Amino acid sequence: MKSIVKKIISYLSKFIEPSEIVKNKRLFKAGYDDYLQLGKTNQEAYMSMIKLYCQTNGQFNNDKHEEIIRSSSPNYSDCVNGLLGQLTNADLVDINEELIEEGYVKFDNKLSDDVCKRILKFAETTPAIISKSSERVIYNREDLASEVYRFDSQDLIQLDEIQKLIMDPTLIEIARRYLKCEPIFDFPTMWWSTTFMKEASSEAAQMYHFDMDRIKWLKIFFYINEVTEDNGPHHYISGTHKIGSKPQHLLDKGYVRIEDEELQALYPNDKMKCITGKEGSIFAGDTMCWHKGSQLVEGERLVLEFEYCSSLFGANSDPFFLDPDDASPEFIDFISTNKTYALKINIL
Ligand SMILES: [Fe+2]
Repeated sequence: MKSIVKKIISYLSKFIEPSEIVKNKRLFKAGYDDYLQLGKTNQEAYMSMIKLYCQTNGQFNNDKHEEIIRSSSPNYSDCVNGLLGQLTNADLVDINEELIEEGYVKFDNKLSDDVCKRILKFAETTPAIISKSSERVIYNREDLASEVYRFDSQDLIQLDEIQKLIMDPTLIEIARRYLKCEPIFDFPTMWWSTTFMKEASSEAAQMYHFDMDRIKWLKIFFYINEVTEDNGPHHYISGTHKIGSKPQHLLDKGYVRIEDEELQALYPNDKMKCITGKEGSIFAGDTMCWHKGSQLVEGERLVLEFEYCSSLFGANSDPFFLDPDDASPEFIDFISTNKTYALKINIL
C-alpha cells in the first residue's frame, strides 16, 4: 500500500513545479514588467532568469523568447549580399539549420587584409581596460600587464570598419533568421588575450562556461590575427545550446565555470570543437553552448565580437552615443532607418 502511495506522489509531483521555480518565475515576471516600463533590468530579476535557465535546463529562456517574438513579423530577405558573399535563401536556411543543430557555423569568407590591418592598428594604439586596474593602457606585447586588454565599446563603434560591419546585411539576416525577429544590435567588443597568466584565467573566459546576458542571442566572432592551437582558439561543445542538453548536476552548481575534465568525461570527443583560423576568419555562435577561449601557449589573440539579441532584458549596458563627426553618412542614415536594430545607438 505504501509503495502505491509513493508511486502516486511521485507521478503527481511531475505536474507540480518546485517552489524555487515558482518563486523565481514570480521575481522574473515582476522584473520583466519593470523592464518593459523602464528599459532597465533590476538585478534580482536578472538573477532569477539565470536561476530559471539552470533549473529548467534552458526551457524557460526558450519559452520566454517565443513569447517575445510571437507578435514580431521580421522582414526576411530571400537573397542578401555583403561580407559573407551573395547568400541565397537556400544558403541562409542551411546556415540557420546548422546554428540550430550545432550552435556554431564557421564561414568561408573572411575580413579583408586591409580591414584586419586597420582594426589591428586601432588595437595597438588605443588605450584598453586591463584586469585589476582602473587605468587604461596601450597594449605592449613586449611588456604585458594583463591576460586581457579589453576595448571600450564606445571607442569601437566610432571606427568606420566596425560601422560597416554593423550594417552588413548578411550578418543581420543570419541573426534575424536565428532569432526569428528583428534583431537588436547589442554591442561590439574586442580584446587581446595574452600569455600574461601561466594558468587558465576565469576572467579571460578560459574555462568552460555558458553566457547568459540575454534571454536569447547570437554572437559573431572575427579573428583579427591568425588563431592556431597555440594562441587561444575558441572551443565549444556542439549542440549544448539546446534545451535539456546540459547535465542537470552541472547546472545545479549555478552560473559557474567548469573544469575541462568534468565536461570531457560527459561529452564524446567529436562534440568538443576547436575553431582555429587565419586572420579575418568569421564564425557565428550561440554561446549558450559550453564554450571557452583556451589558454595561450604563445603569441597573442585579437578577437572582435558582435552580439545580436531579441530583447535587452538582462545585463544592463549603456547605450552608445556618437558624435555625427564620428559616424559615416551611411551609418547615420542606417541608424535612422533601422530603429529596432539600432535601438542602442544614438547620434548626438
Ligand atoms: Fe563566454
